[in-house]
Amino acid sequence: MRKKAKYQTWIRIYKLLIFFIISLTFLVVTLLPINLYLRVLSGILALPFIYITFILSYCVYQFASFGGNYQSKIHDLIVSKVDWDGEGRILDIGTGSGSLIIKLAKAFPSSSLTGIDYWGSNWEYSEAKCRQNAEIEGVSDRIDFLKASASELPFKDEEFDIVVSCLTFHEVKDSQNKIEVIKEALRVLKSGGQFVFLDLFMDEKIFGNEKELLNHLKVYGVAELNSYKIDEEMNLPKLLLNKKVLGNAMILSGRK
Ligand SMILES: C[S@@+](CC[C@H](N)C(=O)[O-])C[C@H]1O[C@@H](n2cnc3c(N)ncnc32)[C@H](O)[C@@H]1O
Repeated sequence: MRKKAKYQTWIRIYKLLIFFIISLTFLVVTLLPINLYLRVLSGILALPFIYITFILSYCVYQFASFGGNYQSKIHDLIVSKVDWDGEGRILDIGTGSGSLIIKLAKAFPSSSLTGIDYWGSNWEYSEAKCRQNAEIEGVSDRIDFLKASASELPFKDEEFDIVVSCLTFHEVKDSQNKIEVIKEALRVLKSGGQFVFLDLFMDEKIFGNEKELLNHLKVYGVAELNSYKIDEEMNLPKLLLNKKVLGNAMILSGRK
């Protein structure tokens, strides 16, 4: 068995490879003994792909533990927002490779935890990797991992004391309305329980107008609601604050 847990970054390596291969192909064409016009055109076409390859590689480096470790730092920030005595149940929606739920298991040693994810084939995460990571980190006896969609959680109303989620709601493809996915997360939270959600909540194309989103949640029965812009909570490299990366990221936290 591996000795060190392995947490993949939020950047899909296959995507990075696709952009890298396209960039390389265009660059090779510029070196071929063909029509000069085609070589120049190929060089121009290569530029956006080289730029995206650079941004994605930089993000992998900054998110990974061998680089800036920002993915782990962001999970730490979410854990730090959980204000709880630690007795009861926690749910992580879209648990990925288990990094956040494993941190929560360590922070709250009396809790029992569940991580759900759809683990689609276009992600490099899997249920098996989650189980392996939890085992390596010594918390596997308290965490259940379950394949399910965030749009239809296989739980009764008000089962959990704490519900967290990181960068998942915007990824849920089987629900057009992402606010419905947030409501589904709140459905399984106990009355008085706390939620901490980090997502691209400032992206209007995904979640609509920010004020309307907050109002929706209040109307839905959220008793206490706080929002935190990620760049006000921690120092992040400028490139990670690009709107296509974490520029629209925000934490919504509160109680039902
Ligand atoms: C950006 S990753 C974040 C993973 C993890 N929360 C983290 O912070 O490391 C998005 C996650 O959403 C999951 N996901 C996508 N669609 C989902 C769905 N319908 N239900 C549950 N999880 C889903 C993906 O499998 C992936 O693990």
